[in-house]
Amino acid sequence: MSRNPQAGAMHDKEVTVPASHSGDSVSIRSVQPEDWPIVRDVVLEMYNDAPYAIGGSLAEEEALTEQEWRQYAGKLADTTRGCGCLAEDAQGACGFVAGDAEYPLLPPRAVAVFRLWVAPRQRGTGLGRRLMDAVTEWAASWGAEQVALGVKETNADVLKFYGHLGYEDTGMRLQVPNQPGNVIIMGRRLKPEQPT
Ligand SMILES: CC(C)(COP(=O)(O)OP(=O)(O)OC[C@H]1O[C@@H](n2cnc3c(N)ncnc32)[C@H](O)[C@@H]1OP(=O)(O)O)[C@@H](O)C(=O)NCCC(=O)NCCS
Repeated sequence: MSRNPQAGAMHDKEVTVPASHSGDSVSIRSVQPEDWPIVRDVVLEMYNDAPYAIGGSLAEEEALTEQEWRQYAGKLADTTRGCGCLAEDAQGACGFVAGDAEYPLLPPRAVAVFRLWVAPRQRGTGLGRRLMDAVTEWAASWGAEQVALGVKETNADVLKFYGHLGYEDTGMRLQVPNQPGNVIIMGRRLKPEQPT
């Protein structure tokens, strides 16, 4: 994959999103290395709120060191490797999504999306879609032709949400150690498949 010099250029813009239900304005911005404490707190909040939705566990995340959170935020801030989108309202962080261009098992020119989460106070306002738009914008600027993500089969509502956004079941299944059920791999092409 050649590095796209434009990668991240559009994503660095701050976008203000009117949140119709709350009356607050919600801004989405890209994660910077110094955001590691905000990223840590939002990931821990996500595990507290929706442990059924995400791989891993709260105990594993709580055990991470400052150095490991700094590395994670640093990777998210390096738009050639990944992307982190952070949503904030008047109360603080209220949404997150991460993109990973280096995840193993992916086909060439594909990126993986992880940890989409919207705080309960902002759900149903369009923020989940806007976070997915933001991470997809990064993926396209990076040169991705497809986006893949995993949904626990017990999280049936979210399957419908991603279906509504144009993601399809790829038929692939992953098993996560120590967790019940399979993970359904969904995907969306950003560019039409080229004939071979
Ligand atoms: C999934 C989640 C991110 C959705 O965020 P949200 O902000 O409530 O969703 P939005 O308001 O942006 O919804 C976007 C669109 O999807 C639709 N939608 C939302 N949930 C849906 C569902 N369960 N079934 C069908 N459509 C759904 C909305 O009607 C909206 O449609 P529109 O844009 O055409 O009007 C949020 O519920 C969440 O954080 N859940 C817990 C964590 C989680 O499960 N994350 C996914 C990990 S794989």
